[in-house]
Amino acid sequence: MTKSVKPSAPLLIFDSGVGGLSVLREVRDLLPQAPVIYAADTAGLPYGSKTEAQIAARVSGLLGRMTERFRPRLVCIACNTASTIALGMVRDVLEVPIVGTVPAIKPAAAMTRTGVIGLLGTEATIRQGYVDRLEAEFAAGKTLLRHAAPGLVTAAEAKLRGKPADPRVFAEAVAGLRSQPGGDRIDTVVLACTHFPLVQQELAEAFGNGVAFIDGSQGIARRIAYLTAGQEWNRTEDDLALFTSDGGDINALRPALAEYGLGRVAIF
Ligand code: DGL
Repeated sequence: MTKSVKPSAPLLIFDSGVGGLSVLREVRDLLPQAPVIYAADTAGLPYGSKTEAQIAARVSGLLGRMTERFRPRLVCIACNTASTIALGMVRDVLEVPIVGTVPAIKPAAAMTRTGVIGLLGTEATIRQGYVDRLEAEFAAGKTLLRHAAPGLVTAAEAKLRGKPADPRVFAEAVAGLRSQPGGDRIDTVVLACTHFPLVQQELAEAFGNGVAFIDGSQGIARRIAYLTAGQEWNRTEDDLALFTSDGGDINALRPALAEYGLGRVAIF
């Protein structure tokens, strides 16, 4: 497909909200000339409290319509919840290359010295068989402690709108891992939700010293660069951020979006 791609064809980066910006940050680093459409399903946010069927239907329906409308060269599902549930289905129905987001259990298993890894994700992500399989394949012999931290999604959404986050949510996320058997020995924490790197500093302060964080964003950016190697890029204007609902406060996001090169905003 390499030769036939139009230089103006965008990358479509999809999440339920602002979380995928943590992936876009790494993509910009590697591919500064890439035209990007950043799509946030704000009408469906949060995905973490939805059922598998609801998430699969939303994600495949929206990506089908967006792909038809914008003809992206590649789609990145920059959302662990959507990827762990719907990646296979989306790949089956769309013709375009799809890059998903996989909880970074493999690199975490290589990093841990104590053998105890914490994993923070949404309620929907931590119960996925996909995560069980990653654990069995890459973290055998280690202890993986999981905790759902939906409050961190809210905190990241608030932070990017310039609103102060409630500090209790970070303490709660830490306590949710530390209070499990072996939790005091956690030295590596997988941020298995793309929203969480956006509040990593606040989380690090709540954990204190001795904990390293890992997320999938750099690996995803490298994968996108690999799959698009040799293609031409022509980015001639500010990129577009799409939202499935205004929610009344999209304007509050504009300064943060502009920092990611997203100077245009529309409702899809
Ligand atoms: N950013 C999403 C993820 O990576 C989930 C946030 C949500 O909608 O609950 O899992």
